[in-house]
Amino acid sequence: MILLLLESAVFALAGFHILYIATKAPFRRDAAEVPGLAIAVVSLGVVAAGIGIWMIVRWPTVRHFAAIGAVALMTLAWWRARPSYGARSKWPPGSLGIGKSLDAINDRTFYLDQAAAHGPVFKMSQFGRPVVCVVGLANARRLLNENADSLIGATLPYNRRLPKGTLRYMALSDHREEAPLFRKTFASLELHAGEQANRAACRVMLDTVVRESAQGNGGVRGREYFASWLLVSLSRIFFGLLPDDPRVAEIEHAFSNLQFDRSGGSRWQRRLEEALVSVTTLMRDVAAEGARSPDYVAAGSALRVILEADPALLDDPSRARNLFLVFRISHGDLTGLVDWLFKLLTDNPEWQSSMRTAGRTTGSPSSAQPSDVGSRIVLETLRMEQSEFLYRRIARPITFSDYALPEGWLLRICVQESHREPNVFPNPQRFDPNRFLARTFGKSEYSPFGADERGCMGARLALFLGRVFVEELCLGYEWQVTRDGPLERGSRHRHHWRPSAASRVILRSLKV
Ligand code: HEM
Repeated sequence: MILLLLESAVFALAGFHILYIATKAPFRRDAAEVPGLAIAVVSLGVVAAGIGIWMIVRWPTVRHFAAIGAVALMTLAWWRARPSYGARSKWPPGSLGIGKSLDAINDRTFYLDQAAAHGPVFKMSQFGRPVVCVVGLANARRLLNENADSLIGATLPYNRRLPKGTLRYMALSDHREEAPLFRKTFASLELHAGEQANRAACRVMLDTVVRESAQGNGGVRGREYFASWLLVSLSRIFFGLLPDDPRVAEIEHAFSNLQFDRSGGSRWQRRLEEALVSVTTLMRDVAAEGARSPDYVAAGSALRVILEADPALLDDPSRARNLFLVFRISHGDLTGLVDWLFKLLTDNPEWQSSMRTAGRTTGSPSSAQPSDVGSRIVLETLRMEQSEFLYRRIARPITFSDYALPEGWLLRICVQESHREPNVFPNPQRFDPNRFLARTFGKSEYSPFGADERGCMGARLALFLGRVFVEELCLGYEWQVTRDGPLERGSRHRHHWRPSAASRVILRSLKV
């Protein structure tokens, strides 16, 4: 009888743990997104649990072995989740437990808290895979630069659709061959040439928000409008397309086929391939028009600059696809940035006034940390949000700060948390663009655009478009947020935090 009671307690404890993990927020969000799959998984779980219960009731021997197995598994999980697990192998401290791993997704201060508890190098796990996390950019840069040969891209599945992979994930030797052409192209973009057109497109977008937010439904969500302006602006900057060119809509359609978050499946692969092929055809089309009328591929556009350097680029799937993927990925990054700019300006209205007093600054950003008000707002927004992490995979064992980092682990450089260092950024949770007036920050202090030779090629473009948005918004409009909600994140560690999807705004023009 006592044995039966003990075994029942073991099964109850195991069941409680399984339920506890299965109902954590990331799984709940996944279930809400794909309810069909969630129902199938839950039904299977219920059937399996039913069969299990029937077996242990029917056969006492099965019950004894199942109870021993459950105790062994729970002990192993507990043992592995201890922060000191692996200390003898010189692994960094920190828990590899699955519960903690899932908490990290929803907890804004998880990485900072772990660094406070265990030091700037600690371990955790992401869906079962161990990850070493580093807070502090000086440390991070040393680790990345001293071990470049032992670190590879922490790839996502879409990477396989390109012969050499995407620039971000390429093997070091391929990257050193391919990256200079792209880096030179983006460095030589003539941003000032299209500035007025970009500003005009931004105002057209904001006027649309004015009209549509006044239609009595409590306002609109800004993010979708910001994304549409960035699509128009980037289509011009990358390919020289004018806002009313129907090919802008084709690019938008291709975007909807590029589901970076999903993995595998023949439908997913087919749609991804379709998108890559269709945009390569579009670029060929633009280039062919350029051949007939040399002015057509707009001077200064990325396509024109890169074709001048490599006329055969569109016949090279690796390069052609990379050009489009840079467009697609940077569109996502910029949309996130602009969404945050809007949120932080809303929360800090004194900076709307400062921007209105200062007026516009024109031309390409004058340096990596320009001091005009609009740029300072962008730099401070990047310090606080949107630049969150860098990922790598450890391909060969690394020794770092007395720790042994095993092959196969992921490396997460915690950029956002590194930007909260109070000795560098006093009162780090405060939105204070004037930090960038008092001094410039070195790369070991402030680094929203990467920390090694794979650093961002579009930093200048991001600062430029960010400033255009801040200036046009503050100088031409005022607004009221009618609804807001808590900050959000998807259900993976590699998703970015973003302002609430529930937020609604009513925008009004300041023009009389
Ligand atoms: C808010 C805006 C942006 C942010 C915060 C951002 C951030 C970053 C970061 C952190 C990296 C390094 C990734 C790593 O080391 O793993 C990176 C790489 C890259 N970024 Fe950006 N980026 C932004 C916009 C852009 C834009 C507008 C472009 C367009 C040209 C661009 C092009 C690239 C490219 C091509 C790489 C890969 C570089 C390489 O592998 O050599 N980014 N970006």
